[in-house]
Amino acid sequence: MNVNDTEVIFSILADEGYDRTEVMDEADVILANTCSVRDNAEQRIWGRIEQFHQQKKTRPEVVVGIVGCMAERLKDALLDSRKVDLVAGPDSYRSLPQLLRDIAPDRPQINVLLSHEETYGDIRPVRIDRNGVSAFISIMRGCNNVCSYCVVPYTRGAERSRDPRTILREACDVFASGYKEVTLLGQNVDSYLWKGEDGTTVDFADLLEQVALISPELRVRYSTSHPKDISDKLIETMGRHDTICKCIHLPVQSGSDAMLVKMRRRYTRAWYLDRVAKIRSVMPDCAITTDIIAGFCGETEQDHQDTLSIMREVGYDAAFMFQYSERPGTLAARNYPDDIAPEVKTRRLSEIIELQNALSLESNRRDVGKVFRILVEGPSKRNPAELCGRASNNKMCVFPDTAHKAGDYVDVEVLSCTQATLMCRLV
Ligand code: 5AD
Ligand code: SF4
Repeated sequence: MNVNDTEVIFSILADEGYDRTEVMDEADVILANTCSVRDNAEQRIWGRIEQFHQQKKTRPEVVVGIVGCMAERLKDALLDSRKVDLVAGPDSYRSLPQLLRDIAPDRPQINVLLSHEETYGDIRPVRIDRNGVSAFISIMRGCNNVCSYCVVPYTRGAERSRDPRTILREACDVFASGYKEVTLLGQNVDSYLWKGEDGTTVDFADLLEQVALISPELRVRYSTSHPKDISDKLIETMGRHDTICKCIHLPVQSGSDAMLVKMRRRYTRAWYLDRVAKIRSVMPDCAITTDIIAGFCGETEQDHQDTLSIMREVGYDAAFMFQYSERPGTLAARNYPDDIAPEVKTRRLSEIIELQNALSLESNRRDVGKVFRILVEGPSKRNPAELCGRASNNKMCVFPDTAHKAGDYVDVEVLSCTQATLMCRLV
């Protein structure tokens, strides 16, 4: 999501005549687009601010700006460091040109107003991906869920959906310029809802279907579904279209009902497993991936075991796994002590990671012998005589070949695997 926001920022600044550089010494303006979801993400940015400050010592005219969630969360505290000239929250990117014009020595600029309407729907993001094959498209902003551990509703504001006409136009545009895959982005795509002037509505399943029908050559992915909201209609829509990739990211967070209540996730373990069963009944080959938090407030050893057991029960194909990081101002920070000792959090997280590594390997082994249509992304990182690309289930496939190029679809047979990669041959 931040990559896509950066693309929006580049577009707004390009209209003002700014050019993009990745060479810091060359830049007149340095912007860091930031994440607040865990403390370590913020700590990295404080390190970067020090680095930018070194630039200012030799080039006092350089402008240093912090944008995104950390700007929204810390506001003036960033300016108080006296190392930052600009602070702009996620809904204020249209004001960046004005803010940049108004900056003067000892006159830093800040805009952290959140909006109920801003979706940047009319802005054509300047793509910064490197492969020219796969593009992100934001379909909504903000989140109305207030999971108790999560800072996102405070930094990104209330949920709002983008006009589907602008989404379809953007998808058609990127396809026309050579992209072969789009990923539709939202904090909770299942609550996407657009009400037209004529009273008609477009929900996420409708939107996904419309994008899926653009071309048989354009694949569609999306992120993220919320287990409490993922509908039969969405699952059945996915099953109907080959262009919709068969991979669902369904963050479980914990396998314990007590933790799920405290996390305010508003589903139970049984409900979650029922959704998984529905997905598997419609799409037996659909990959399911997840997010897991280890060591949330009051988590007992039994709660932790429940997380390990739901992981085994679902057999996740991949997972993002984190230690709980208390975020100031959230419901959890206000109501529950962050009482799991750091070494216990670390141990539980490593058990979760170890289990997931085994599950990922098992999942990859199940694919040996299968034939997948993959979208070539380019040469593999390790060997220039090999190409790599993803199967519909999002697994990375590597195969010897130099004849094809990024953006081609090819069929490969899986010969062997590691935990992270499927080794294949061209069919
Ligand atoms: N601590 C740890 N992980 C968190 N996430 C969100 N907030 C926190 C937090 N305070 C994780 C969740 C979410 C993912 C994007 O980040 O697992 O799904
Ligand atoms: Fe955060 Fe929950 Fe919203 Fe996801 S759904 S962004 S975890 S509040």
